[in-house]
Amino acid sequence: MLTKQKKLILSGAQQDAMRRAGQANAELMDYVRPHVKAGISTGEIDELVHRWTIDQGYRPATLGYQNYPKSCCTSINDVICHGIPDNYRLKDGDIVNVDITTVVDGWHGDQSETFLIGEVSKDKRAVTQCAFDCLYLAIDALSPGCSVSKIGETVVPEAHGRGFTVVREYVGHGLGRQFHLDPSVPHFPNRQSRIDRLYPGMCFTVEPMINAGSRYTRSDKSDGWTVRTKDGAASAQFEHSILMTEDGPEILTLTKNGPRQGHKF
Ligand code: MF3
Ligand code: CO
Ligand code: CO
Repeated sequence: MLTKQKKLILSGAQQDAMRRAGQANAELMDYVRPHVKAGISTGEIDELVHRWTIDQGYRPATLGYQNYPKSCCTSINDVICHGIPDNYRLKDGDIVNVDITTVVDGWHGDQSETFLIGEVSKDKRAVTQCAFDCLYLAIDALSPGCSVSKIGETVVPEAHGRGFTVVREYVGHGLGRQFHLDPSVPHFPNRQSRIDRLYPGMCFTVEPMINAGSRYTRSDKSDGWTVRTKDGAASAQFEHSILMTEDGPEILTLTKNGPRQGHKF
């Protein structure tokens, strides 16, 4: 095994620290979820995230990360990822991804869910369902020592089979004492992901971004963060933090009250 990969393998105690970070993050998601309704502003969601995190003695990883200004990302409709919470109020027909990352004793938990606000279009519901199903199908495809490309090999045919596309510019990542680590975890197969392997003791995210239209993206020049679909079609995403064990993938960010594998939106 390459030494570059060896250092990504956590000891038992470090794995337990990642379990605690994942569970804290999941608890935060359970706390926030009931508030994600028509009428709340994304800035108010961010305040809830920030307050809860600080009150627990944790830290939101996004706040100040490469000068990112908020404690979570809120990505609405055609926003793929990295939407900045502001005074926009959620309204009937929106879909919104809330992505939260908590640092507990220096270790990171990272997850997101997409929420349907009131009655949404068929397309928005279907793309949200697709992103959710792709997340769990990709996790199920993993086994100890498998290549990272298993994820892309699962996600791409599933999304394309439903008439949707997979974002390539933004990817999952190794996770641990840092927010973004090797390996890069693309949701499409490429040369590097066929080489990189997921050994027991490694932590990483799976976070497919699925577009209802074309896969292409454009970045907002004014805020430097918001990433939208080029064609304006809707995009959805779900994310979990994963620990590979000798027995297979363990989801570190499972929530008590959130949608479970097989959920129909
Ligand atoms: N949470 C995102 C991820 O899943 C990263 C957000 S970085 C930020 O990797 F700076 F935009 F917040
Ligand atoms: Co992530
Ligand atoms: Co995230």
